[in-house]
Amino acid sequence: MCETNQDFPHFMLKEIHQQPAAIQTCLSTYWNPQSQTIQLPPFPFSSFPHEIHILASGTSRHASLIAQFWLEQLAHIPTRVRSGSEFLEAPLPLTANTLTIGVTQSGETADTLQALEFEHHRRNQAAPEFHPHLLGITNQATSSLADRVDTVIPTLAGTEVGVAATKTFTTQLVVFYLLALKLAEQRQCLNHDRTLQAIAVLHQLPAKIQQVLQQADRIQAIAEQLVNTRHCIVLGRGINQAIALEAALKLKETTYLHAEGYAAGEFMHGPIALLDEQIPIIAIAPADNTQANLLANIHKAKSHGSPIIGIVTRDDGTNTAELFETQIILPTVEEMLSPLLTVIPLQLLAYHIAVLRGLNVDRPRNITKTLA
Ligand code: M6R
Repeated sequence: MCETNQDFPHFMLKEIHQQPAAIQTCLSTYWNPQSQTIQLPPFPFSSFPHEIHILASGTSRHASLIAQFWLEQLAHIPTRVRSGSEFLEAPLPLTANTLTIGVTQSGETADTLQALEFEHHRRNQAAPEFHPHLLGITNQATSSLADRVDTVIPTLAGTEVGVAATKTFTTQLVVFYLLALKLAEQRQCLNHDRTLQAIAVLHQLPAKIQQVLQQADRIQAIAEQLVNTRHCIVLGRGINQAIALEAALKLKETTYLHAEGYAAGEFMHGPIALLDEQIPIIAIAPADNTQANLLANIHKAKSHGSPIIGIVTRDDGTNTAELFETQIILPTVEEMLSPLLTVIPLQLLAYHIAVLRGLNVDRPRNITKTLA
């Protein structure tokens, strides 16, 4: 392995800190400031797709759920996300003029590859309007995924050694956001000025992520409070539902703590019965149009004794300090892009809890990772 984790005690921490640079690389590769255009590799479609199906697993599936939000809300293209491992048993209905996207950071995940192969075969046997148009999003431009799709968009995160996907997740998000903007412009759902504004906001992200990374000591102190916790709930609404799932996955995978990620509203329908003072809640509560409902859900949860850690945005005008025992305060960010910030303290929290528990954070038990 030629990578070293110089200056960092573990690869996971190094890779969390590499996110601003990785996102910057992605942006400078796929955004041409001279022509002011998004330049992704040639698209396997003559016009634009009528529907998008995304196949992925684990953290790549969580990135895809956020992409679904962007593709539907910005480009107005109906989008469905399926786990690679579920697709063969319950394939999506065959739809015409459909773009199928396989997302896998390693390019080697068997569940995702099998689902793509199945789709390729099934669509090739159907009428021409159902024929396959396959796109791959991966961190390994040369991989089994690349051999199976028409076009690959590399995520350019550099080698990720830690088993926990961190910088490959945020760069998948950047690629998906650019794809959604490009399709939105092609379909005239966004005019060019609006696209330029969105790109300008995207360019501010590396510096904002850096500001979150500077709160590492504070996040480590929160990790110290949680080190002996056995169960934990992560709640989010809207676009941050998927970040709740991703945070719970990171916590389970690296700390072996039992964590559940939930859509905050849905959590009220039964799972709230789990709560007591032993079960902390992490509430992803940036200032956006879901915040009022999320805070109402958290008020209810708090009445059952759960300690609450809030992930909030700076100066949002809402007094959340009384509701949350502890707060992690993020720079302000547009709702559409908030997952790229809200995930950062949650990655750090999982990392620090795992280290405090004396676990091998780069190589959790029972999991392997394919490296090129
Ligand atoms: O290489 P892939 O993106 O296809 O991997 C999929 C999952 O196995 C992977 O995301 C897994 O969930 C990670 N270890 C999460 O950190």
